[in-house]
Amino acid sequence: MAVERTFSILKPDATTRNLTGAINAMIEKAGLRIIAQKRIRMTLAEAETFYAVHRERPFFGELVQFMTSGPVVVQVLEGDNAIAKYRDVMGATDPAKAAAGTIRKVHAMSVGENSVHGSDAPDTAAKEIAQFFSGNEIVG
Ligand code: RTP
Ligand code: MG
Repeated sequence: MAVERTFSILKPDATTRNLTGAINAMIEKAGLRIIAQKRIRMTLAEAETFYAVHRERPFFGELVQFMTSGPVVVQVLEGDNAIAKYRDVMGATDPAKAAAGTIRKVHAMSVGENSVHGSDAPDTAAKEIAQFFSGNEIVG
């Protein structure tokens, strides 16, 4: 299996409920290594760039408003098959449909306030990592 890197965000509903450590424990227990991490307040411009693929979707305005409503923790995770593995650990977008034991099943509040983001493919992972981290901030 290939060692991959993926981009993760602990969203404002998670940071404001003091769940950073609890979610990081689930990430690490799954065998993913947190090789970069910082707590930031995303600007509107950053959120709009990050979610540009969803610009035409009806929830876009709500999504960027939510992502800028409080602190987020941006991360780079590394491990075997990290992109698919982290999406398994996160669970389905809608927490009501997420499998037992996943981050979203355990912690998410709704389809919008769903605690975490994870990249969906190698090209988006690379692009998302580069939006928030410079090379010397990532220590594998
Ligand atoms: P993410 O990108 O955050 O890892 O989540 P995802 O792949 O599971 O979901 P995606 O389809 O990429 O949607 C991105 C984020 O938009 C919000 N969303 N809201 N109100 C809605 O119907 C709705 N649908 C999606 C969620 O916060 C989702 O994570
Ligand atoms: Mg997505």
